[in-house]
Amino acid sequence: MEQTFLMIKPDGVQRGLIGDIVSRLERKGLQLTAAKFMRLDRKLAEAHYAEHAGRPYYDPLIAFITSGPVFAMVWRGDGVIALTRALIGKTDALQAAPGTIRSDYAVHTNFNLIHGSDSAENAEREIKLYFTQEELVDYEHTIQRWI
Ligand code: TYD
Ligand code: MG
Repeated sequence: MEQTFLMIKPDGVQRGLIGDIVSRLERKGLQLTAAKFMRLDRKLAEAHYAEHAGRPYYDPLIAFITSGPVFAMVWRGDGVIALTRALIGKTDALQAAPGTIRSDYAVHTNFNLIHGSDSAENAEREIKLYFTQEELVDYEHTIQRWI
C-alpha cells in the first residue's frame, strides 16, 4: 500500500495542533506506521528542502524548520499521497480550500503547519531521510475493510 511522509512543522507543534492534525488523519482512515518527535539539524533540513535551494524563501525556510521541534510521521493508505495533500490544502493559506488544515489554521505561507510529500519519489526519499526500515512498523490495521 502507498506510504507518505508527513511532518508537523515547528509552528504546528508550538500551537498545540499535533493532536488535532493526527486526529484528522486517523478519522480519515489512514494508518500510522511511524512517528518521531525531533528537532531537525541544518543538514537534515537542507536535505529535506534540497529542491528549494536558491529560492528567495529558502534561507528563512531552513531557519524556520530548524527553529523548534517537529513531529515526523509515516502514514499508509490507498492513494495516501494525493489524499493527504488534499487534507493539508494548498501551500498558500489563501488558496487552501475551506476545511483543509492550512485553511483552518494557517495565515502565512511560511507558517503553514505541516509538510506532506508531493509524489511517490519524494515520499520514498523523505521517509528514508527520517526513518530507518526498522522504525516503520508493519501491522494489520483492522478497520481497513470498512474504509
Ligand atoms: P512547496 O514544496 O512549494 O510547498 P508545500 O509545502 O505545499 O509542498 O514549498 C515548501 C515550503 O516552502 C512551503 O511549505 C513553505 C515554503 N515556501 C515559502 O515560504 N514561500 C513560497 O513562496 C513557497 C513556494 C514555499
Ligand atoms: Mg513540497
